[in-house]
Amino acid sequence: MPRPRRSCLAVPGSSQKMIDKARTLPADQVFLDLEDACAPLAKPDARKTIVAALNEGGWGERTRVVRVNDWTTEWTYRDVVEVVEGAGANLDCLMLPKVQTAQQVQALDLLLTQIEKTMGYEVGRIGIEAQIENARGLVEVDAIATASPRVETIIFGPADFMASINMKSLVVGEQPPGYDVGDAYHYILMRILMAARANDVQAIDGPYLQIRDVDGFRRVAGRAAALGYDGKWVLHPGQIDAANEVFSPDQSDYDHAENILDAYEYFTSDAGGKRGAVMLGDEMIDEASRKMALVIAGKGRAAGMSRTDKWAPPAE
Ligand code: GLV
Ligand code: MG
Repeated sequence: MPRPRRSCLAVPGSSQKMIDKARTLPADQVFLDLEDACAPLAKPDARKTIVAALNEGGWGERTRVVRVNDWTTEWTYRDVVEVVEGAGANLDCLMLPKVQTAQQVQALDLLLTQIEKTMGYEVGRIGIEAQIENARGLVEVDAIATASPRVETIIFGPADFMASINMKSLVVGEQPPGYDVGDAYHYILMRILMAARANDVQAIDGPYLQIRDVDGFRRVAGRAAALGYDGKWVLHPGQIDAANEVFSPDQSDYDHAENILDAYEYFTSDAGGKRGAVMLGDEMIDEASRKMALVIAGKGRAAGMSRTDKWAPPAE
């Protein structure tokens, strides 16, 4: 089963205080950042802080990720070598930002494999999260999603992306002024989602920078969740509960999905009359309903939900 990533907490790798705080917060994933939340002069020390923080533990069930710098900088190889040699056994994934080609993912895969062999780690265990942050990356997204079996997620990086395509808005995720023909992000979000679903990897939405505006966060997160995204970045503790809630099904949807699965199993069985299309309350259900229900039930189970209303077969 894929790892839960409803809320992916960004933590600057240079801040011991924020790293310590992150261990206490209910985010599904924590990523310690060596890239844009870490000033260039702070990067060498941040690598050491991150290695120590991973090895100290205390991360519980949270997925542990480090975002390295992108391959166009001079920092990437040292980020990878220092972090993975130092703490590879306590790391789940590396996040590669500003991915533009499949080759950039393959380069990271090759380097990871070498370090895993040298260190005696299991080869291929550490996953890759690929961030799409510019037009070139989006055009190449299918090849990026299939570039390595390590790829676990495709992430939309809206701030860098908006800059890359010259979008007029300065508020990440909100519609640019003068744009009134729909949702300016719809194509980008859907393009990434199709690449992710076609290749069985997760689709994650990036940050919402107005951290005090939790309603704005909910609105933008709700849009990604409605399309089918698996989760979203959170930059502040105040966004975490909202993300966990928005990317989990409602209780009534979850109950209904589990009931569809039970009812469909019963009605298609011998005892239920081997029927493929039946009424459940006011709704006609068939094999496609089962597939939709499986998605919602899967999300609910992954979120640890339990049933509050259980369908029972008709009495004999
Ligand atoms: C995240 O990295 C972004 O650029 O939005
Ligand atoms: Mg970015």
